[in-house]
Amino acid sequence: MRMVDIIEKKRDGLILTQEEIRFVIDGYIKDEIPDYQMSAWLMAVFFQGMAPEETAELTLAMAESGDQIDLSKIDGVKVDKHSTGGVGDTTTLILAPLVAAVGVPVAKMSGRGLGHTGGTIDKLEAVSGFHVEVSEQQFNDLVNENKVAVVGQSGNLAPADKKIYGLRDVTATVNSIPLIASSIMSKKIAAGADAIVLDVKVGSGAFMKEMEDAQALASTMVEIGEQVGRKTAAVISDMNQPLGYAVGNALEVKEAIDTLKGKGPADLHELCLVLGSKMVVLAGKAESEHEARAMLEEVIENGKALEVFKTFLSAQGGDASVVDHPEKLPVAEYKIPVVSEAAGFVEGITADKIGTAAMLLGAGRATKDSVIDLSVGIVLHKKIGDEVKKDEPLATIHSNNESVSESAKKILQAYKISNTRPNASPLIKG
Ligand code: URA
Ligand code: CA
Repeated sequence: MRMVDIIEKKRDGLILTQEEIRFVIDGYIKDEIPDYQMSAWLMAVFFQGMAPEETAELTLAMAESGDQIDLSKIDGVKVDKHSTGGVGDTTTLILAPLVAAVGVPVAKMSGRGLGHTGGTIDKLEAVSGFHVEVSEQQFNDLVNENKVAVVGQSGNLAPADKKIYGLRDVTATVNSIPLIASSIMSKKIAAGADAIVLDVKVGSGAFMKEMEDAQALASTMVEIGEQVGRKTAAVISDMNQPLGYAVGNALEVKEAIDTLKGKGPADLHELCLVLGSKMVVLAGKAESEHEARAMLEEVIENGKALEVFKTFLSAQGGDASVVDHPEKLPVAEYKIPVVSEAAGFVEGITADKIGTAAMLLGAGRATKDSVIDLSVGIVLHKKIGDEVKKDEPLATIHSNNESVSESAKKILQAYKISNTRPNASPLIKG
């Protein structure tokens, strides 16, 4: 087989065989295929797309390029959840104890990564004593005992995706649905989930700005899941504003606790129930989403979800008393309001600008060696549809530095204020 022939075949819009796709991925990982040929192939895929069976094979080839986590010693159907990237997205922190409380095992490995705020692992470290380094044996035992554990990622998952993503980033080939779908799914499959629930974001703050693209990405990922034997479901949700009110690590932990108490922001609460219901159904714990939702509402209502959260924190060394005393979480020194320059109605809040504002305060990592300040972030006071007066606070900055003008500027840029009340836009779009 020759790479040049495979590039030509894809350039001309033909469908590659399984052997040809394996040849490309294996050859690239072994440095037998140079970057320039891989770049040409990626560009051909960008323009010609891929058939479902090609996308599935690409996903498997990347999933099998490194370590594959074996969760078979954990009882039950392990369901993982993935979001295509939101700002202030606290859903994992809430969903893990929530679905565990109805008996769905949550065996989550999370990376730290780069981003506007830390990942789930960083957020949990805002709870004093919480640790994420446990042995494989301990991890299995924790999930079997408590139904939930969240640990740091060990091992080398989908290295082919990592190498290819690096190349896509500099060859203008990131924005291709089969490439994004296979990239995301390869990592989920390598992480060992039996079933996967996807939250595909659409809107100004998301990868996918248009509904049509979000739908195509969602259905491509669900199809990959089906082709490779993992039950997969997807939800398309709005990202025309950040989810909930809090953006920042400790601030989001507090928001997660509120939501587990049934007192969280309406949008965050609703999204958790929608995603959680799908997880419960895929895990075989309920017949319908309707039944699953009632189960989840019950464990919020009767406090069981909160109890599971406490047990989970303690089991990994964390101080579970933060649940009843959230003031024990790291607190920033300064609280600085950002006030509106105009009167009107909030029409939109560009989520990634709010994310950047949080990152400027130190809530996220700019490079992989940056140290996160867990206490800082932003709490929004106004969301889409809310009326705002001139000089009324739109948000509060939580900072350990008195000068926050850059961050405040970003927040003001993020808010779009109009003279008329906008039509409500649904949270769940598909
Ligand atoms: N996220 C991923 O993991 N991969 C992509 O290609 C795009 C977003
Ligand atoms: Ca939030």
